[in-house]
Amino acid sequence: MPTQRYAVFGHPVAHSLSPRLHALFAEQTGIDLEYLAIDASPEDFEGAVRSFLETDGCGANVTLPHKARAFGLADVHTAVAGRLGVANVLTRLPDGRIEADSNDGAGMLADLRARCRIEPRGRDVLLLGAGGAARAAAFALLDAGTQSLVVANRTLDRAHALAAALAQPARLRVLAWGDLAAAAPFGLIVNATSAGLRHDSPPALPRTLAQPHTVTYDLSYGPAAGWFLDWARAAGCARACDGLGMLVETAAGSFERWHGVRPDADAALGALRRTLP
Ligand code: ATR
Repeated sequence: MPTQRYAVFGHPVAHSLSPRLHALFAEQTGIDLEYLAIDASPEDFEGAVRSFLETDGCGANVTLPHKARAFGLADVHTAVAGRLGVANVLTRLPDGRIEADSNDGAGMLADLRARCRIEPRGRDVLLLGAGGAARAAAFALLDAGTQSLVVANRTLDRAHALAAALAQPARLRVLAWGDLAAAAPFGLIVNATSAGLRHDSPPALPRTLAQPHTVTYDLSYGPAAGWFLDWARAAGCARACDGLGMLVETAAGSFERWHGVRPDADAALGALRRTLP
């Protein structure tokens, strides 16, 4: 059988850990595959993905800034992707059609449970941010049965727009960033802002949001997660987790979708942590 080909599309994409993760999973499972990182500008994205999947590409991961375009070019959408309007996993189906799925939310929940050792069901959760990453996290958290979800965002209108899309008024509340100081502490605080990716000073977060049992989770990892995890430790939170495990879980989910085998995410995460700065 010829080597199966897969790729991650992004712009930029050189930093992506997906090729390493899929190589680790291939080694674990003995599956022969090739996994590339393909840089495609927004103008070139659709043509590049189509030509990859129409020739010998079996599937693709899609990262920033293409997740909405990936959804748009697919012929079939999973229920999760349909609700979010974005996709990070594209699969060429046996009949040649392209399927779009989003497993970011599932990856976050798996990592929260496995490594942060917190079950979101029944928790009061604070979600910081209202962009694309926050949207996937919010649907996943509500689906997981959180008791309440408070969405706080620097731009209040975007938080209201997210709340309208979530359509769960009984469990959902929107808070202006400036009103966080008056909020009661939360069991779980999830940072879905991109604040750590920029060079501007990090947003102020009152320590009163945390209690000793509070678990904090940042969807990003590495230096981008630094300001939030530092805040969590200074506020005395029980655990401060970054999103590297979520990345590994989403890669493992893609691998399982394509190859029908669940790889060992813990082993891959350990290998990544040993080599990352
Ligand atoms: P992503 O797809 O990563 O979610 P996005 O859609 O651009 O990216 O959303 C970025 C999120 O981070 C938004 O919630 C943004 O707040 P605004 O809606 O007010 O822009 C938030 N964000 C980015 N920089 C921030 C900062 N310095 N302080 C607080 N929030 C910030």
